[in-house]
Parts: sequence; C-alpha cells; structure tokens
Amino acid sequence: MTTNPVPTLTLNNGVEMPALGYGVFQTPPDETVTAVEAALSTGYRHIDTAAAYGNEAGVGEAIRRSGLDRSDVFVESKVWISDYGYDTTLHAFDKSAGKLGVDQIDLFILHQALPSRFDLTIEAYKALETLLADGKVRAIGVSNFMPEHLDRLLAETSVVPAVNQVEVHPYFRQPDVLATDAAHGILTQAWSPIGGITFYRDGEHTSTLQDPTIVGIGEAHGKSPAQVMLRWHLQQGRSAIPKSVTPHRIAENFDVLDFELTDDEIAAVDALDTGQRGGPEPEDITLEAFGREIPEA
Ligand SMILES: NC(=O)c1ccc[n+]([C@@H]2O[C@H](COP(=O)([O-])OP(=O)(O)OC[C@H]3O[C@@H](n4cnc5c(N)ncnc54)[C@H](OP(=O)(O)O)[C@@H]3O)[C@@H](O)[C@H]2O)c1
Repeated sequence: MTTNPVPTLTLNNGVEMPALGYGVFQTPPDETVTAVEAALSTGYRHIDTAAAYGNEAGVGEAIRRSGLDRSDVFVESKVWISDYGYDTTLHAFDKSAGKLGVDQIDLFILHQALPSRFDLTIEAYKALETLLADGKVRAIGVSNFMPEHLDRLLAETSVVPAVNQVEVHPYFRQPDVLATDAAHGILTQAWSPIGGITFYRDGEHTSTLQDPTIVGIGEAHGKSPAQVMLRWHLQQGRSAIPKSVTPHRIAENFDVLDFELTDDEIAAVDALDTGQRGGPEPEDITLEAFGREIPEA
C-alpha cells in the first residue's frame, strides 16, 4: 500500500474529489466486491460506477466491508437513459442509492445525452438539480456530452455540471471537448484513461499499452505505459478512473504519484491523438438502440 495521498480536484461547487479514481465498467457483479475491496485497500478513495453497470450493490458492499468511514470514500454513479425524465430520474437516485446502501451519492451524473430526446435529457438534469438542492447528492454532472450538448444544457438549466466524464486517452483526446469543459469551469474526467475501450474493440491488449512513444517515456521514468498515461491525465488537471480487476494492476495504476512527465513528454503523448473514437458516437445514442430497464434496488 502506497502512502502517497491522492491529490484532490476542487469541483466548481467547492466539493473536493480525489483526482484518481477506480472504475468498474464491465466488472462482473460477482467480482465487484473483491475488486473494489482491493482498490480501497490499495488506497483509492473514489469509485466510479453506474446504474447501467449492474454492480452498484457490490461497490456499496465493498465500502462497508472496508471499515472506512462513508465520508472517506467519494462515490460516483450515473443515471441510465431509460430513467431520464424528472420523476423517473428522481427515482433513479433511489434505485442507485438503495443498491449502494448510501443516503447520499457524492457525484451523480447523466450517463449520456439523448440528442433525439433532449427534452428528456433536460428533465433528467433538472431532477439532478433538485437532488443537489435537497442534499441527496453533493455534486452533479454529465457524461459523453459533446460541446453542442453542453450548450443546449447550459441554455436550459441553472447548475453548471461539475464534471463531464468523456472518453480521453492518448489515441482519442477530444481537444474540443476539453476546451469547452474548461471554458465553463467543468472538470473533464477521462474514461478509458489508458485506452481500455480500444482493447475491448480490438479484442486484445495492443495499441496504447504498446505504443513506442508511451513505452519509451515509461522506460525513461522506470514506469509502465499505463502509469505514463495516468500521469499524463493528472498533470493536465483531469480526473482519471482506470479499471482493473487484476490486483497487481490495481496497485500499478495507483502508483503514479511519485514522478513527473516533462512538458515535452506530455506534448509527445498529446500528439498521438488519432481522432478515432473507441466508444459509441454520442450523437447516435437513442432509447431505441440503447434503452434497457434498470432494476429496482
Ligand atoms: N461514461 C462512460 O460512458 C464510460 C465508458 C467507459 C468507461 N467508463 C468508466 O471509466 C472506467 C475506465 O474505463 P475502461 O474500463 O473502459 O478502460 P481503462 O481503464 O482505460 O482500461 C481497462 C482495461 O485495461 C486493463 N488494464 C488496467 N490496468 C492495466 C495495466 N496497468 N496494464 C495493462 N492493462 C491494464 C484492464 O484489464 P483487467 O481488468 O483485466 O486488469 C481492462 O481491460 C470504467 O471502469 C468506467 O468506470 C465510463
């Protein structure tokens, strides 16, 4: 266990969030307790889950088993599109909080924009605003919102999202999204921070982990490619939420606080951007194609 404290980022409403978190997308429900317990014992204090991942209950159980105070762990979850709408999104909080076994969620975000039903997206966000006002959540935000989605949201709602969680890794950097987020005081949180979405797509661990530029930078610091990528996010002020169910990788991904990339190294990683998205095109998210029922708690 490292003794290095994880730096925190201050959200636009003053709430402090550990910059480095631990994600559980595609972590099977029956492996989630063990994986999250390993992360918490390594030192992670920020867990990113989602209603759509089907593993919120395991996250909550691991937090309780850890013996840590609830207030010591920053819990983030996401509302799935099938629960968008004012009343249904208020109820989505009850479902997520019930599965997690918590009274309050630290950061609750919309998982996707629904471009063809932006009215529902707005209603869902207004429910998040109510949850925030009621103290049920400490901060609210969005995920996979492109600049045009943010513009529409900001025009019709009152609370600027604290976070926009989007795909960012060396092969897909989304500089326009990063700039839009920054212009509005929205923290960018990188999902697939080491390029995981490209591994799933390619079916094997190629690409970013074997990229000669990233490997070379790692060799210069005695660090792994994953550690270089996580450092690249943190030094550019982003939150990163790497996922692993493998104990030695959980530890490796946390051991990123004792070295610094140079400006040239950061620029070299920036230059690897291919502009090719790994995840689904945000504009194409529809209830018809992606909707599915989220069970009650
Ligand atoms: N908002 C969204 O739409 C969205 C979409 C995707 C992800 N996310 C969030 O972002 C988190 C991270 O994204 P992600 O899971 O797609 O990708 P990721 O964290 O970039 O990569 C995860 C993949 O990399 C492997 N891995 C982890 N650490 C490694 C290391 N040090 N060396 C080699 N391989 C390593 C993992 O394998 P093992 O687990 O087998 O070790 C897994 O296959 C998710 O868990 C989720 O919380 C959000």
